[in-house]
Amino acid sequence: MKIIAMTNKKGGVGKTTTALATAAYLGQSGFSVLAIDMDPQANFTQASGADMNVAGTFDFLNGTPIEKCLQKLPKYTMLASGPRMTRAEKEFDQIGRERLLKSALARVKDYDYVILDTAPSVLVLTQNALCAADAVVICCQADSFSLLGLDDMMHNIDLVQEYYNPKLLVAGILQTRYNAQTKISEQATALFQDKAKEFGTNVFSTVIRENVAIKEAQMRQTDIFTYSPTCHASEDYAAFTKELFAIVEGGKKKWPKNSPKQNSEETPRISIPRSPRKRTTRRR
Ligand SMILES: Nc1ncnc2c1ncn2[C@@H]1O[C@H](COP(=O)(O)OP(=O)(O)O)[C@@H](O)[C@H]1O
Ligand SMILES: [Mg+2]
Repeated sequence: MKIIAMTNKKGGVGKTTTALATAAYLGQSGFSVLAIDMDPQANFTQASGADMNVAGTFDFLNGTPIEKCLQKLPKYTMLASGPRMTRAEKEFDQIGRERLLKSALARVKDYDYVILDTAPSVLVLTQNALCAADAVVICCQADSFSLLGLDDMMHNIDLVQEYYNPKLLVAGILQTRYNAQTKISEQATALFQDKAKEFGTNVFSTVIRENVAIKEAQMRQTDIFTYSPTCHASEDYAAFTKELFAIVEGGKKKWPKNSPKQNSEETPRISIPRSPRKRTTRRR
């Protein structure tokens, strides 16, 4: 079982969209997936069409057996967030509070992948996600503003590696909402690559294009592959999930043969060359 967190201190950079698409694509490709909404804003829960007012993530972290907290959705099983999650910061005040998720998940064995969506903060819920994760994806909107705060985010990841989770792999920086028509997206790619090098990680060679179908799917509370299997965002998220899979599995597992095919479209999918990996994680 591999645990993967989508993160960034900034909001609106595609964390939830990426968590949802990754969970859905892994699920429809035959993997068993547990999706955990770690954000009190509960956007992942809402966009999945799950119920926010029943037992979910908060109760699971608080010691309720997982069977009582799960919601079964067509492509993945979910631990939902909701209004009660806002109490987490106050109520989880005991020593070791950063490790609640890690210890609760230690008893869970039934899934191939656990996908964590995190809040735009590095407070206790995000710390729990980073302590429990095997790998972290840093989602960044493809504009230069996304670089602000990246140093701080990486510093926090460093601290988590140092004190709690030395095996945490920084899988890479994912560029979301890429618009080939704007110069800024192109320029940002070069800046992200520089930053990634500095941090000892990579920029994913797949970029996620800006696509209105993402918003439409979220409004209909469905995943992008169900809503529009051939749109640009579906193509990009399928390619990203496979790239992530290869990184997280270290090339030891093959992607299932019978997984759904993406239709090829006239416009080629945008991908940028990956620079060779030097280190998997940044150490000070
Ligand atoms: N590739 C995309 N194309 C168009 N809109 C997108 C794309 N990715 C995300 N969005 C939209 O941007 C907003 C922020 O995305 P979200 O995933 O909620 O970010 P975060 O979880 O980091 O706050 C949402 O309204 C979402 O629908
Ligand atoms: Mg979000």
